[in-house]
Amino acid sequence: MTDAPAHTPVIWHVTGARPNFPKAAPVLRALEARGWAQRLVHTGQHYDDNMSTIFFEQLSLPKPDLNLGVGSGSHAVQTGTIMIRLEELWSAERPALVVVYGDVNSTVAAAMVTSKLGIPLAHVEAGLRSFDRTMPEEVNRLVTDRLSDLLLATSVDAVGHLAREGVDGDRVVLVGNPMIDTLLAHRDELGRHRLAGVPELAGLSGAYAVATLHRPANVDSDAALAGLVAALRATADQVPVVLPVHPRSRGGLTRAGLFEHPQVHAVEPLGYLEFLSLVDGSALVVTDSGGIQEETTVLGVPCLTLRPNTERPVTITDGTNRLVTAEGLADAVAAALAAGRPAQWKVPPLWDGHAGERIAEAVEALLR
Ligand code: UD1
Repeated sequence: MTDAPAHTPVIWHVTGARPNFPKAAPVLRALEARGWAQRLVHTGQHYDDNMSTIFFEQLSLPKPDLNLGVGSGSHAVQTGTIMIRLEELWSAERPALVVVYGDVNSTVAAAMVTSKLGIPLAHVEAGLRSFDRTMPEEVNRLVTDRLSDLLLATSVDAVGHLAREGVDGDRVVLVGNPMIDTLLAHRDELGRHRLAGVPELAGLSGAYAVATLHRPANVDSDAALAGLVAALRATADQVPVVLPVHPRSRGGLTRAGLFEHPQVHAVEPLGYLEFLSLVDGSALVVTDSGGIQEETTVLGVPCLTLRPNTERPVTITDGTNRLVTAEGLADAVAAALAAGRPAQWKVPPLWDGHAGERIAEAVEALLR
């Protein structure tokens, strides 16, 4: 990225999976504006063009300085491979500070290497807790936060969790949500014309729902999938459902017969602008994603989250989200369709488009 003379302090950012990219973009931009030399690593956890490259293009992210090319694998294989490659890299070229994002395997792997090399570590999206350790992301969050020197929180509840875990308050900064910076920066570009590039949706008119499913607890077992597919079919009886299919769930959803329903429109994973344009124009969203709970909250789109818990409760108290079971989904969809989209809705504090700048300020304060 930025050319740095020898001995100039360099801030390194580690990204790897789809949800990292919209979080990193505003932080890189804000630190660049302050004149910091930076390097961007892509671990290669996500590698398909439509899970990675298109996000770099649409979000004007700089080309990564390095792609570790780890690809898919078990948790230990993925995490361990990233650790081995980052340790080699940073033993030769020592960062002044490393910034990690969110809760994916790339995040925790980079956090462990950074910490063991004695390099300052900043975690963007610190303090979120689902209190459900069956989620791999919850383990990643706990470990990453424990090791971080600077914990950058998106919401007040996250700050509270860190305080209860005994994290020194001087290391915690409530900065708001950088993913929402990215959303607001592209708000005016969202529009249904973006969907012209998705031929499967050409005939879609009137109200529709958007669905996404990829959590292991929902899609890795045929038993869980059977209930969810029945619920999604009952949803599609009421309203057309557009479902960008995550590669993890393609096989299971196909076997369970979801795509045979005439009102279910399966599409490949979409680019950032195409997906948010689709969400922005929808009557409601059904999801098990974390980030989408936040994006629907800001767009004012009702969100039904197919999970027993959420690490983002602020999207329920201050947003448009609610948790539903597979059994309760069809009734919740009927109620959401009857109510329509809200005319007014709340947005959590500091989800205002300026989190990247606050993060840059906090990082700079730590380095100085
Ligand atoms: C990962 C994150 C999850 C995040 C999600 C967003 C972890 C533990 N999980 O889950 O928190 O919500 O990303 O998408 O880090 N695959 C492809 N092409 C790709 C990437 C993946 O085909 O570019 C397929 C592979 O079969 C792979 C599977 O998807 O085995 C799962 O990928 P992986 O990165 O392990 O986890 P996700 O389910 O994507």
